[in-house]
Amino acid sequence: MWRHRDLVGIEGLSADEITHVLGQAGSFFEGSRRQAAGPRPQSRNLSGKIVVNLFLEPSTRTRTSFELAAKRLGADVVNVGGPSSSAVKGETLLDTVKNLEAMHADIVVLRHPASGAAQFVADRVDASVVNAGDGAHEHPTQALLDAFTIRNHKGKLSGLVVAICGDILHSRVARSDALALGKLGAEVRLCGPRTLMPVAPESLGPTVRSCARIEEAVAGADVVMMLRIQTERLQGPMLASSREYSRTFGLGERVLALAKPDAIVMHPGPINRGVELDPRVADGPHSVVLEQVEAGVAVRMAVLALVAGSDPVAAPGSESLGAPS
Ligand code: CP
Repeated sequence: MWRHRDLVGIEGLSADEITHVLGQAGSFFEGSRRQAAGPRPQSRNLSGKIVVNLFLEPSTRTRTSFELAAKRLGADVVNVGGPSSSAVKGETLLDTVKNLEAMHADIVVLRHPASGAAQFVADRVDASVVNAGDGAHEHPTQALLDAFTIRNHKGKLSGLVVAICGDILHSRVARSDALALGKLGAEVRLCGPRTLMPVAPESLGPTVRSCARIEEAVAGADVVMMLRIQTERLQGPMLASSREYSRTFGLGERVLALAKPDAIVMHPGPINRGVELDPRVADGPHSVVLEQVEAGVAVRMAVLALVAGSDPVAAPGSESLGAPS
């Protein structure tokens, strides 16, 4: 079912492969929940493997959950990045990864500001490369954990209406989510200010369409996903002001009331409270934001095990992780 050495994007995955990852993640998720109050036995899928988290852009959720996921699978984990890495001294990305490979890294989890960085590295090294977000291109594990969270709540993805609102132009999450949810049969509505919409959003899939107004996107939706403005990627003034943006494209209780009564509200984080998301909605009964974060560990366990060529079969003594046998 899984024949990939790397995970660079959702674009290269079939619907069956995505469903397979979600299934594997489900086993890890259930096991982790059962163990939450007690000792955590480790699965040994990655025993003897070295996983390097190379994060050349800031991250809280993705980096931490990859580290926890690799540790729960028994890998040795090293974190590289920020001002403490030699990238700041001018070392190229490829030289950095080649040096990590010389220390026998088996999997490199890469976050990088440039679109295409993960594929560039994957084409040139033997280690498995997992894309943890490359510029405005893709964030595949975020899309997988989003699909997982939606399926947990709704029991399915096919036929659902998912509104994704915000800075679509610069969002790798929007791209990966639209690709993944579209492949799984959901209708995806992309919505944002005209200056923050890509030229042809419909090219992301036959079930993807754009909406000019948030009210149109949210009307009758099963899922409303809000995105922050990627200020670090804005080239020049593309918005009138945060207040104006919040008024026209923010999600508050008035707009949420247009969605289905049992709609869930999602956000990949970090949230800019009061800009794209009213705190009353972010913390309200429809919000599943922290469940997304929880799912991230299980989904990344599944991805790491799969790219390492190890079906997530629990080692003796770790059956309580719930990995499939
Ligand atoms: N969702 C996400 O990628 O968050 P981080 O930037 O904190 O990893």
